[in-house]
Amino acid sequence: MLKGKHIVLGISGGIAAYKAAYLLRLLIRKGAEVQVVITPNGKEFITPATLAALSGKPVVSEFFAANTGEWHSHVDLGLWADLMIVAPATASTIGKMANGIADNMLITTYLSAKEQVMVAPAMDLDMWRHPSTQRNVETLKRDGVIIVEPASGELASGLSGKGRMEEPEKIVEAAEKYFATQETLCGKKVLITAGPTYENIDPVRFIGNYSSGKMGFAIAEEFASRGADVTVIAGPVNICLSGEDIRRIDVTSAKEMCRECEKVAADADVVVLAAAVADYAPAEVAETKIKREGSDGMTLKLVKNPDIAATLGAAKRPGQIFVGFALETDHEYENACKKLKNKNLDWIVLNSLRDPEAGFMKDTNKITMVSASGEALAFGAKSKRQVAADIIDTLFGELSGK
Ligand code: C5P
Repeated sequence: MLKGKHIVLGISGGIAAYKAAYLLRLLIRKGAEVQVVITPNGKEFITPATLAALSGKPVVSEFFAANTGEWHSHVDLGLWADLMIVAPATASTIGKMANGIADNMLITTYLSAKEQVMVAPAMDLDMWRHPSTQRNVETLKRDGVIIVEPASGELASGLSGKGRMEEPEKIVEAAEKYFATQETLCGKKVLITAGPTYENIDPVRFIGNYSSGKMGFAIAEEFASRGADVTVIAGPVNICLSGEDIRRIDVTSAKEMCRECEKVAADADVVVLAAAVADYAPAEVAETKIKREGSDGMTLKLVKNPDIAATLGAAKRPGQIFVGFALETDHEYENACKKLKNKNLDWIVLNSLRDPEAGFMKDTNKITMVSASGEALAFGAKSKRQVAADIIDTLFGELSGK
């Protein structure tokens, strides 16, 4: 998996920097080409001479070479690399990465990185659990960075707890898993619906719902970061997509969404239906604004909208993977299973409005993934980007077999 891969190894100034030498050796042994970028503090813990000898390349640390004035281009490194691993990542480096404080070569390289970035934090347990560190780690996750969670155990301070940098073998495993998913998803066509739909009543009013589109967009961004060819069909939302290569088609109503989906779905390898589609639309749309005067009330006649998931599901080809969402308030598992069957889906992502971490407009979600064969995988409350990663990791077994 790592043979021929270009990896930038960023090393910051923590005791665990000595383990970076071993990590570097493992990466080289697996056939990767590694360019080390080290922070000024990192050099206090491990010498550039050791790292240059192991990597076979001069170590980059300063913006300019002291003797020649030659500029070290972080932009070129960003273009060269297939993966950037920051190990160890100190609280300070994580904070700078999360906030774009580009005062050393490692951070400028990170800010220019086009490739996936992976971070292995290393610090004392109190620093790790400090709200500031946790906030910064969450920001990095939201930005699509893979965090190799620190392990628990003996710490350099003599204390014991969570904060030890994960062992080099585990970091290599995470890198291999990243490339394996990338290989599987590269070129795979993925269609995602996101956001609410608005069903017009008259030129100024509509029937809508509270969906923000955050979950669907997070799934789109995660798929795109893993190399998939992504199309998002989005209802009216107020958020932006951060993946540059994602195709976005904006629609308003369920009918429009259905029409656009039908154009794309037949060609897709994976279809994820995360939109909160309105089930009903007004039978007629008034051409002019409905006035209040002259009536005590009004009755709105509604007609059923197309069920996009069921429509696309009925035309599903062998080999396609369809994933739906079920936001339930009661009898969650039974309702989810019914939808899975009726809409001919392979997986349904269940979340419950009874969970405070789940639901509309939130930045977090708590899901259970239910498969067509009835297996249920429950996950803890996580950021929507992390939930997206869990969904894709769960599908991954399916994808690699197709
Ligand atoms: O039946 P329910 O609306 O709860 O089903 C939810 C799933 O079906 C979601 O995946 C949603 O995107 C999809 N759906 C749809 N078209 C509809 C209603 C729901 O695609 N009209």
